Amino acid sequence: MTDKPRVLVTRRLLDANHERLTAEFDAVLNLDDHIMTSDEIIAASEGMDALLICVTEPMRAETIARLPERVKTIMTLSVGMEHIDLEAAQARGIAVLSTPDAVNDPTVEVAMLLLLGAARRATEGAALMRNHEWKEWTPRLLVGTDVTGGTLGIFGMGRIGRTLAKRARGFDMTIRYHNRTRLSFADEAGASYYTSIDSLLPASPFLAITAPSTPETRGFLNAERIALLPDGAIVVNVARGELIDDDALIDALKSGKVAAAGLDVFNGEPTNVNPAYLELPNVFITPHIGSAAMKARIAMGDLLLDGLNLLLAGEPVPNRVV
Ligand code: DGY
Repeated sequence: MTDKPRVLVTRRLLDANHERLTAEFDAVLNLDDHIMTSDEIIAASEGMDALLICVTEPMRAETIARLPERVKTIMTLSVGMEHIDLEAAQARGIAVLSTPDAVNDPTVEVAMLLLLGAARRATEGAALMRNHEWKEWTPRLLVGTDVTGGTLGIFGMGRIGRTLAKRARGFDMTIRYHNRTRLSFADEAGASYYTSIDSLLPASPFLAITAPSTPETRGFLNAERIALLPDGAIVVNVARGELIDDDALIDALKSGKVAAAGLDVFNGEPTNVNPAYLELPNVFITPHIGSAAMKARIAMGDLLLDGLNLLLAGEPVPNRVV
């Protein structure tokens, strides 16, 4: 036992994160990286000052209610918050810390990868090569959709949406967006504001979803909304799978109403993803790797540990959610 703050870490993080955790804190690590049950987390939380969790550990009200008194904070290695009952944490006086900013650039890299991969038919191209089926170059081979100079509608203009707008401008894209609140003139940087998602959709030949998962956004991209998109639209999702009605999107991908989709997040991930997404040639997919870049992953851990130090010193914590 030391007098260093005690931290339970529920998943195996990068070595650099572990080095800092063990140097500065009295950390209990999960080196075999098994998914801990709520009961296991509660038992392991005895004597802990802080929990460092991931999106894989739901913190529902029942779990939060059973945490030992000593736990002062739940730190999540994510910007997404849907796995934590924030009201329950607040009611118990447990601070919740997250990792905003650190995830912007890597998530937007994946958004651009998906946008480009979907538009330029990367799934079909890779399959042709890997199956040794590419026989000749022809002028009609895998002709896709031009990205440069296209128009991108962004649903959710928080940090990730704004960073995406910036990168997409590098492809001379026109940016349109819907957000609960309109951005300042400076933050819009020339993007056009649409007051509702229903008005943004018909104006979005490319649609990127960067909004958080909330009761209002879940399932928003359903059959009625897809019908509002221009024919042959391209849809990209780096937010959460639950924002999309899978059956509706899959029907639209089959009919060509939606020409292609680039998806990093899924309903039922990781083991229960709709199998149609894995079969459709016009879907370019990655396994929830938005923030999975080396510097960013280390920075996410640092942000939480810096926040923990501030919290324990009684200072304001910039990345405190409640
Ligand atoms: C996030 O930061 O929310 C990413 O999706 C990783 O969980």
